[in-house]
Amino acid sequence: MTRKRSAKIIDGKKISKQVLEEVRGDVAALKKKDIVPGLAVVLVGDDPASQVYVRAKRRTCADLGVASFAHNLPKSCSEKRLLKLIDQLNNDPAVHGILVQMPLPGQISEKRALEAILPEKDVDGFHPINVGRLLNGEECFVACTPAGCHTLLQRSGYDPAGKHVVIVGRSNIVGKPLAALLMQKAEGANATVTVCHSRTRNMGKYTREADILVAAMGVPEFIKPRMVREGAVVIDVGVNRIPDAGKKSGTRLIGDVAFAGVAKKARAITPVPGGVGPMTIAMLMTNTVKAARLIAKRR
Ligand SMILES: NC(=O)c1ccc[n+]([C@@H]2O[C@H](COP(=O)([O-])OP(=O)(O)OC[C@H]3O[C@@H](n4cnc5c(N)ncnc54)[C@H](OP(=O)(O)O)[C@@H]3O)[C@@H](O)[C@H]2O)c1
Repeated sequence: MTRKRSAKIIDGKKISKQVLEEVRGDVAALKKKDIVPGLAVVLVGDDPASQVYVRAKRRTCADLGVASFAHNLPKSCSEKRLLKLIDQLNNDPAVHGILVQMPLPGQISEKRALEAILPEKDVDGFHPINVGRLLNGEECFVACTPAGCHTLLQRSGYDPAGKHVVIVGRSNIVGKPLAALLMQKAEGANATVTVCHSRTRNMGKYTREADILVAAMGVPEFIKPRMVREGAVVIDVGVNRIPDAGKKSGTRLIGDVAFAGVAKKARAITPVPGGVGPMTIAMLMTNTVKAARLIAKRR
């Protein structure tokens, strides 16, 4: 039987605003101790999407009173030059968080760039030390998108404890860290987690068993209503730009979930845009303030 009422919309814009207001308060409290949290954002090249992300991060920093340090390197930049800059930022006391915007041009190893960042300034949570600590259930920086999904669930009242969470996608930036986060023996976690990917056979068998279903694949509207259990909570991480002649820009964004149909079956669902997306930047700001606090404590 299909639910008569549509799912509750989990409003990422609203929840991210709440998180950012809390960050604003934390920034003000740190300023009373003469600490101004600082985020360095390194952009290599002129990828238009990366430029948009970097601008949004700078705007949010300015709004919250976080110092932002922009470093724009040319597309032809050598790996050595980037690593030298990261070393300078590691040693700069005004910089508490370092973010190297991905993707990097082909001549630079993303792995070497990420590993060059001091783990205590790795506010993106991609350094292997932070990934390992996450897996071990230790204090660490959690990657911003998984942290955003987790916060959305917690703040909208869907505690994953004891629930079957099925994550479709096993990338290092979303699927794997989210699985590690939700399976922890910790408050706000304690889920039973299944991770599906492109080699999963009979995907619907798993997705239909999910109390909480997370789609993080990058395939427009892959998750159809028949793949979702009645009353499930659905988190759509996917961001896909598709042609739309009705829009001035000629395109629009959609997620990995066929929203209209799935919303009729789900208990709650995140929209795209306005769901997970706004949470990612909010978690970056949370991590930056956390880095400033931890670094100040150690000094
Ligand atoms: N909202 C945000 O802030 C935010 C942040 C990050 C990413 N995203 C979006 O989230 C989506 C995923 O990003 P990502 O970086 O994790 O992508 P990714 O690195 O390309 O990983 C995609 C994952 O989905 C799996 N997959 C792809 N097609 C599949 C299929 N047909 N059936 C089953 N599994 C399939 C892949 O399986 P294999 O491992 O087997 O290849 C892989 O594990 C993208 O749309 C991206 O734009 C949004």
